[in-house]
Amino acid sequence: MIGRLRSQTIETGKFLADWMEDRTGAVTQLEHFLYEPVPKRGAWLYTLGSATLFLITLQFLTGILLLFYYVPTTDHAWNSVYYIMNEAYFGQLIRGIHYWSANFLLAVIGLHMARTFFTGSYKAPREINWIVGVVLLLLVIGLAFTGYLLRWDQDGFWASVVGIKIGSYSPFIGPYVTHFLLGGDVVGPATLARFFALHVWLLPAMIAPFIGIHLYLLRRHGEFGAEFEYTDRISKLHERQREEGYRQHEFEDDEEYDYDDELDEEGGTTRHRRDDE
Ligand code: HEM
Repeated sequence: MIGRLRSQTIETGKFLADWMEDRTGAVTQLEHFLYEPVPKRGAWLYTLGSATLFLITLQFLTGILLLFYYVPTTDHAWNSVYYIMNEAYFGQLIRGIHYWSANFLLAVIGLHMARTFFTGSYKAPREINWIVGVVLLLLVIGLAFTGYLLRWDQDGFWASVVGIKIGSYSPFIGPYVTHFLLGGDVVGPATLARFFALHVWLLPAMIAPFIGIHLYLLRRHGEFGAEFEYTDRISKLHERQREEGYRQHEFEDDEEYDYDDELDEEGGTTRHRRDDE
């Protein structure tokens, strides 16, 4: 019975996949999107980028759900978080996922960066992907910083005060950025509104296209050190060595014999060795 049910499910799945592939070509596209050869050695370390992608997607999804209850004003922010934690259906779970996945995201993004650094993935032709990665890192740090104030409790409040104070000592731009973030002289309602706008609108809207560029460039160059890259490089090297070998051979021949080039009837050239004549 269970065996029949399983084979029926597989058949239906296959039918749907074939139907979809026939109508849209989506299955081939998905296969192409998901398949990326990685080096055999340390293959697990190459999952860190996908882990980062997974965590940031989770952040987007849980963040959207939190927005259904969160109120970004100084007199309601803390209460709305309290409501999410104690009254809202699955509120504690969703906020817990958002909180922990934010922490893991920072750790995993650091590990992903370390992996790309130690495997030398920042070298040509992947320099731009590294730069895009640095931008993503800064944006994610921005997300973490702005998110902390939103709960409007003592922890978040004072962490933001200290963070902004540190930032204010940056040369040249420090005072301007501080003033822009605070929206006044001290952390208050305007600061909360600005941090909210940055956290849920501006930073995510900037992160999304950068992730797109990051993944596009990854597809363009492939994973650094993947077998195909070496196969390609080695075959190019062999081809160059073969060509150099031929040239060397011809050069030696040229030195040994004298040649005469003659125009033939079709307009091409025929080469004769002088001593043949
Ligand atoms: C939101 C943040 C990020 C996401 C979602 C992300 C995602 C990914 C994914 C899925 C890959 C392919 C799988 C892998 O190699 O692990 C990748 C590769 C890469 N990432 Fe990231 N990444 C992020 C941040 C960063 C940062 C902070 C850096 C460095 C500053 C970086 C530099 C690179 C480089 C150079 C590659 C190419 C790796 C290679 O060819 O070996 N990424 N990224």
